[in-house]
Amino acid sequence: MTDLTQPKFFGRRKGRTIRKTKAHLLETFLPQVSLDTRVNLSKKTLFPKPISRVFLEIGFGDGAHLAAQALKNPDIGYIGVEVFKNGVAHLLSLMTNTARGDVSTIPALAPERTDNIRIFADDVRLLFSKIPDSFIDRVYLLFPDPWPKKRHAERRFVNPDNLKELARILCHGGILRIATDHPVYKAWVLRQMHNCPDFVWTAKTSSDWRNPPADWVETKYQRKAVAEGRRPVFFEYRRV
Ligand SMILES: C[S@@+](CC[C@H](N)C(=O)[O-])C[C@H]1O[C@@H](n2cnc3c(N)ncnc32)[C@H](O)[C@@H]1O
Repeated sequence: MTDLTQPKFFGRRKGRTIRKTKAHLLETFLPQVSLDTRVNLSKKTLFPKPISRVFLEIGFGDGAHLAAQALKNPDIGYIGVEVFKNGVAHLLSLMTNTARGDVSTIPALAPERTDNIRIFADDVRLLFSKIPDSFIDRVYLLFPDPWPKKRHAERRFVNPDNLKELARILCHGGILRIATDHPVYKAWVLRQMHNCPDFVWTAKTSSDWRNPPADWVETKYQRKAVAEGRRPVFFEYRRV
């Protein structure tokens, strides 16, 4: 039966059969690093060590960007959110150094990396109400599903309701990074953000949005887009 209290999610929740090692991680390791939404979120208790700021990545895909950022910035706490189970399993394999294949973007895998990552393995809209006002310092929304057809426009993540929540949870001066490779979504984001008084676009020249920021880590989806000849853009907005 449809649960009418849940927001409708249109993407994929699961893909190919998850291999034994990853299935084991989902069962045993995910509970250890999952965000506990039953308690009030506090910067003091969210991570097992002191952190200076909290960054949120929405739709982390295979988790390569999140894991690499978390490794580079051990004093920052990262909340990673992803609905797609296979993606969550892949992040867990990166966190435990059990990933197979190409993990070359991630240097020196270390067990300590788990210290500053907490995962919410569901729709971020279910998490919003648990996050206090101004709790987050930066939000990454990297290559959100573009839903390019006009009749699917209401499925696009960048919309007034979600922007209202992002504005609430971001601290003043906090950053919202949005990357996309889809022409329809590029224009859509610019329009939605232009209409949202809570954010200002930080770009001063076109190279600011044509090129990735200095601390950028390439994502799987970005690699795919570039390989297929599409040119990503990198929008950065500041919470006013
Ligand atoms: C096109 S993929 C991009 C993945 C990754 N950011 C990358 O660049 O490789 C978009 C991801 O966002 C996730 N997603 C979409 N809506 C979401 C939501 N409401 N909450 C959490 N994750 C979501 C999807 O499951 C999917 O993995």
